[in-house]
Amino acid sequence: MLTDAQTLTLQDRADAYAQAFPQWPESHFWRAGRWLYAFWEIGNDYRNKTAYYGAYPARFLDRVMAMFPDVGSRVLHAFSGSLPPGPYDRCDMAQPAEFQCRVESLPARVGPVWPLVIADPPYSKADAAKYETPMINRRAVLAALAKVTQPDGHLVWLDTVWPMHSKRDWITVGWICLVRSTNHRAPWMAYGRCGYSNPPYGPFVQQLLAKAKRESANGFKSVLLLPMRVTQAFKAHVLHGARWLLFCDKRITFWENGVPRLNVRALENDGKLVGDPALFDSIIVVYDGVWDVPSIDTWKVPIHVTRADLERAQERRKLLVA
Ligand SMILES: C[S@@+](CC[C@H](N)C(=O)[O-])C[C@H]1O[C@@H](n2cnc3c(N)ncnc32)[C@H](O)[C@@H]1O
Repeated sequence: MLTDAQTLTLQDRADAYAQAFPQWPESHFWRAGRWLYAFWEIGNDYRNKTAYYGAYPARFLDRVMAMFPDVGSRVLHAFSGSLPPGPYDRCDMAQPAEFQCRVESLPARVGPVWPLVIADPPYSKADAAKYETPMINRRAVLAALAKVTQPDGHLVWLDTVWPMHSKRDWITVGWICLVRSTNHRAPWMAYGRCGYSNPPYGPFVQQLLAKAKRESANGFKSVLLLPMRVTQAFKAHVLHGARWLLFCDKRITFWENGVPRLNVRALENDGKLVGDPALFDSIIVVYDGVWDVPSIDTWKVPIHVTRADLERAQERRKLLVA
């Protein structure tokens, strides 16, 4: 039994989720370094409760709330859209809500009152146009939400990107990859014929390999840049399933948030502006139909970082450090 007085650790939250959904062990959280990860393929649950464009998938909120058994009704739904009234507060500038205003203007009305904020903003200008609202400035919204969230509170942000923000406002503690499965409203194939990904390392990769193999049988091509690890999943889904296994002829510099990752040591010690390449263990796995054994080749890594890219990365770093 958890009471308000108890402070839950991240592990407690992961355990609370696992207890609430023992029937979906593959959706449970795992720990890698400082962060929690989960992979939610909502599948049969993906029946939206309302016809509102962009409405939450059915049961998505039940899953999120399972991690926060300690917050009760002290929850703010930012960008609440069609969410009906309930034991929580809502903020939406265009839909009925307890706070019918822009999320950015909340700090002018309340202080740091909510231990949990769940935000579902428009993801693009085209999405915002559907709500007849201007596209948000994500950085400004994150700063505003920090002012209305209790110290040690949490923000669950549903989006296609994790926005730029000040480290004084938010510390990242976890990632949930939310995927819609096949035979539902939006399988991957609905968005195109081919996907490219450089997924975060960890157990997530194993699930992605299995999914890519499954989807390739349905005609969806996946191209994945992965660390070379001869795991069970590698044997089961790459050595038996992938079309190509390509070895890179040079190191690849990671890109994050639209800019290359900088070699901070070279910058701080020697004033040199250079990229920070991945370890020389990157392989490219291509799924294109299901194959008994993959073909093997070398991939000539193209020039993928220019001086201008590095300068943009340096500008971004200055902003984040400031
Ligand atoms: C993705 S929808 C949210 C849908 C919601 N999760 C649901 O289940 O219905 C985004 C919502 O953000 C609202 N919105 C857009 N910009 C906003 C802003 N700056 N402040 C508050 N609400 C905003 C839109 O009116 C829209 O209802």
